[in-house]
Amino acid sequence: MSPFLRFDGKVVLVTGAGGGLGKEYALAFAERGASVVVNDLGGDIKGEGKSSSAADKVVEEIKAKGGKAVANYDSVENGDKLVQTALDAFGRIDIVINNAGILRDRSFARTSDLDWDLIHRVHLRGSFMVTRAAWNHMKSQKFGRIIMTSSAAGIYGNFGQANYSAAKLGLLGLSNTLAIEGNKYNIHCNTIAPTAGSRLTQTVMPPDLLESLKAEYVAPLVLWLCHESCEENGSLFEAGAGWIGKLRWERTQGAIVRHKNQEMTPEAVRDNWEAVCDFRNANKPQNIQESITTLVDVLSRVDTENLSANPTSAMASTSTTGIDPAQAVGQKLPEMVFTYSQTQCILYALGVGMSTKDPDHMKFLFEGHEEFSCLPTFGVIPSQASMMDGGLAAVPGFNFDFTKVLHGEQYLELYKPLPTSGKLTSQATIADVLDKGSGAVILLDVHTYDEKDLLCYNQFSLFIVGAGGFGGKRTSEKAKGTVNPPNRPPDAVMTDETSRDQAALYRLSGDWNPLHIDPSFAAMGGFKKPILHGLCSFGFAARHVLKQYADNDVLQFKAIKVRFVKPVIPGQSLQTEMWKEGNRVHIQTKIKETGDVVLAGAYVDLKGTLDKTAAKEPSVQAGGLQSDLVFAEIGRRIKDVGKDLVKTVNAVFQWEITKDGNNAAQWTIDLKNGSGSLYKGAPQAKADVTFSLSDEDFMEVVLGKLNPQKHRIYHFFIPILDHFITFAGKLKVKGNIMLSQKLETILKDYAKL
Ligand code: NAI
Repeated sequence: MSPFLRFDGKVVLVTGAGGGLGKEYALAFAERGASVVVNDLGGDIKGEGKSSSAADKVVEEIKAKGGKAVANYDSVENGDKLVQTALDAFGRIDIVINNAGILRDRSFARTSDLDWDLIHRVHLRGSFMVTRAAWNHMKSQKFGRIIMTSSAAGIYGNFGQANYSAAKLGLLGLSNTLAIEGNKYNIHCNTIAPTAGSRLTQTVMPPDLLESLKAEYVAPLVLWLCHESCEENGSLFEAGAGWIGKLRWERTQGAIVRHKNQEMTPEAVRDNWEAVCDFRNANKPQNIQESITTLVDVLSRVDTENLSANPTSAMASTSTTGIDPAQAVGQKLPEMVFTYSQTQCILYALGVGMSTKDPDHMKFLFEGHEEFSCLPTFGVIPSQASMMDGGLAAVPGFNFDFTKVLHGEQYLELYKPLPTSGKLTSQATIADVLDKGSGAVILLDVHTYDEKDLLCYNQFSLFIVGAGGFGGKRTSEKAKGTVNPPNRPPDAVMTDETSRDQAALYRLSGDWNPLHIDPSFAAMGGFKKPILHGLCSFGFAARHVLKQYADNDVLQFKAIKVRFVKPVIPGQSLQTEMWKEGNRVHIQTKIKETGDVVLAGAYVDLKGTLDKTAAKEPSVQAGGLQSDLVFAEIGRRIKDVGKDLVKTVNAVFQWEITKDGNNAAQWTIDLKNGSGSLYKGAPQAKADVTFSLSDEDFMEVVLGKLNPQKHRIYHFFIPILDHFITFAGKLKVKGNIMLSQKLETILKDYAKL
């Protein structure tokens, strides 16, 4: 990129360029290679009279310096003629500087119709006429730069300039919309409010100041805004004396002064006036969508007043009410594909509070860890994508206000451990619709597949405030219900702080609702601060159970159900109380600081194949099992070749690993079902062959230290002798040991570990 901003080949039209600021712009553009149309009507400052000399002089000056310029003497009200001059002389139009202007200052009471109209005709209508004439040329060439000239008088008001102020700020409104309409054609429109000594300001400025505030201190801003490399669009700048500043809107957080089913009164406005006008924590809305979103949100907040349900997830918006279960139930949402890598797994783990402070968490945070795993509750992420896209709004029979959707409950069941990367497909179905009187409940079932294999199942219970009373049933056999905990003190309690940035981090996993990050958005919802995602607390609770009762072994996780009761503010501590009843761990999660229950009627179901008491034996605790490393590697190999092995081997293998004479671990290699799997624990069906040996012997064999020839007792093990062997007194084998020969593929090369 050239260090100098050049305009070679560009055609610039500057209106009112016979003097003052316009002249400076024309000279500066020409000096940097542009062809310039110098327009000026040549009247007096009140817009009276006409002369060609002003424009001609500037053209001569440009030409004398070797530049290219032509004059145009029409009023900007004849915009077509100005643009035609550019086309006739240079064949195109690239840049329009709307600069021409007059003044007819009067105190407001004395402002005549003519004072008002003339000002508007030159400034506002003139800029419109010129810009409209150039617009289609810019559009078809996919390039255009436009400047509107506003004024501090318009921005702030100025005594005696009612007409001028109105027209000048009108130009900003015009520019704001052109910026939006032109953006996709690379047409940018910006507005400047300059201050410079000129004939327009000589009556209001002392001569010294007039002299010092040179027009040449404004021109460089105009040139930069009009350069093809400048991306600025739809902005407003003040400029003068060599200083440039950008302006934007600021808005207070405001206050909702209306209550559900009550009349809105001027007294309520008065009583909330301080909050309405309080600029502390003000926000800076950037576009009209932000403005409308606020109002839509306010409507939903007012309508859901006094509701105990937790608005952890507001969704998109439509209007009207009405639910027709006959049409809706059974409908499928469009299939969703979710592609992810290990990055998303790690980001999710951080999002639900995992930390390198805890060595146990490393397997979820470090992709190089030998047991690198994806947290089971990540299973909600691919499935939530299926509704976030607004698919629900398209379901026949659903005509309700989507701003009134609350996330009531969640059920997740895993059929296989989640891969640490993959391309998953989710299919969402409206399982049932219930009529709860005060609202409706939609049961949304989402099945997530890895190719043809069903990986997990989610049930979202969505509560639609105010959409009940359509005469539907109150319960459904399809609903995954909540279960209350036993009536005794919890068996275990685990507490974790959430960080100040917990929601900011969690949202990166896919739930971008501003309620969780934008203080003003949260304030609209009646929250003091942005709230944590309900599904983030859900993730915390699940991993508390996994740590307490399953040694963080993801293979042990089966299912989780929770009801969202209250919101959590990032920074508060989550305390999960647990009651173990067989393979079910009942849970209740509270905010430690307040004692408020946030997740209720909740439970986690474990597979129950891990004997935690055995794992706690001191003999095995120190350093864990070496054989675990080998199995982790076997697991990775199965991921690659498992499908083929299922076809050729078709058997289930079980290992019983002992340490110091105690049972230390059980492993299962399932090469009979699906695309093969390895997991810690006993096989779900009967094993075809079971091996029992100590952790040390397992490793010695794997590392090839034992002489297999000497110890072998079964000659048919010869094909895998280099890698795995039975030897007298050390390895016990039950079942069809012939099958172990077939394991060669997955055991091969482990001596290199
Ligand atoms: P200026 O009076 O030196 O330049 C304005 C030019 O516009 C004159 O040459 C005039 O002949 C021409 N013009 C007037 N009516 C026209 C029409 N109908 N068609 C074509 N040309 C016409 O004034 P200055 O100060 O250079 O102003 C330029 C622009 O900047 C104006 O829009 C003015 O409102 C704006 N502005 C200037 C400020 C300043 O401090 N100089 C402050 C705020 C805004």
